[in-house]
Amino acid sequence: MKTVLVTGGAGYIGSHVVQQLTRRGDRVVVLDNLSTGFRDAVVGAELIVGNVGDMALVTRVLTDWQVDAVMHFAAHTVVPDSVTDPLRYYGNNTCNTRNLLAACAEVGVDKFIFSSTAAVYGITAEGIADEDTPTAPINPYGTSKLMSETMLRDHCATGAMRHVILRYFNVAGCDPTGRIGHSTPNATLLVKVACEHAVGKRECLSIFGTDYDTPDGTGIRDFIHVEDLAAAHLNALDHLRQDGESLVLNCGYGHGYSVRQVIESVQRAAARPLTVVELPRRKGDIPHLIACSDRLQQRLGWAPRYDDLDVIVATALQWEETLLRREAPLTSAA
Ligand code: UD1
Repeated sequence: MKTVLVTGGAGYIGSHVVQQLTRRGDRVVVLDNLSTGFRDAVVGAELIVGNVGDMALVTRVLTDWQVDAVMHFAAHTVVPDSVTDPLRYYGNNTCNTRNLLAACAEVGVDKFIFSSTAAVYGITAEGIADEDTPTAPINPYGTSKLMSETMLRDHCATGAMRHVILRYFNVAGCDPTGRIGHSTPNATLLVKVACEHAVGKRECLSIFGTDYDTPDGTGIRDFIHVEDLAAAHLNALDHLRQDGESLVLNCGYGHGYSVRQVIESVQRAAARPLTVVELPRRKGDIPHLIACSDRLQQRLGWAPRYDDLDVIVATALQWEETLLRREAPLTSAA
């Protein structure tokens, strides 16, 4: 039976993909260094703890498990950190991807699904991007991913491999069954941070920038539920296993919400007001970005199931409450 190697499969998005794969009966092996991932987030698959850049280890795993396809999630993903420490991002995101590709080439793995990002587009004219929109990232995170895309495309052009590059817009929400979720420590993503505040883990929520040229002055993003994003990876795997051609695809819903609209949704879900502090713009942020994701639907037959901000937020808040219960000190029964 063929096996999928999922790098970063103990992390937020990777773990949701692994769960969907194993639930439908696919054979999966996960490689994760647990720097931000969690052992118990890996559902139904074996976890190998190690680094994606370790070519000897990766080559061994690819061979031992008879891997035919790789899904590559392992990466640093915090935009503001990439601005202050760009070399760490180029090292982990770009150089390690190069080593992973070299290991695949050595063993003959010919299918690759890559986690890219909307951050490759930078600031677009209308705040909308389709896959042909010119790429012009404005932060090292976006550049580190774009460089990996370029390497991957050049490698595939030799005929050694086919790829699906998935450019994620703003991923949020958690497994609605509550089994896994978004546990990343020191999270910076808006929905996660707002839900942490709603359950009392943070004293307040900051809005970074209220002077953008948007209807309410705050940034606008296209929030996609992690379960819908995960499903796109399964569609991409099926496409490549059926000899489909290489593709670059946006992953979003094609409409967006402002930071203030997200805060209102969290307040509705939590049934309490949040304490909000208005701060200046965050370095590396773009004002407004929405996906044109028609190609994902047309080429892979992808159909979103959770395109509703309140549903996204409700599942994120439910997971935050679960984490809070797990972290609560045990009290002895009287
Ligand atoms: C970006 C990428 C996304 C990537 C992510 C990884 C784009 C469009 N999206 O997300 O693909 O996965 O980086 O980090 O490039 N905000 C606040 N207060 C907070 C947190 C965020 O006001 O506490 C605001 C931000 O200023 C921004 C919006 O919320 O306007 C979304 O920010 P965030 O959730 O961090 O994601 P992006 O940086 O957009």
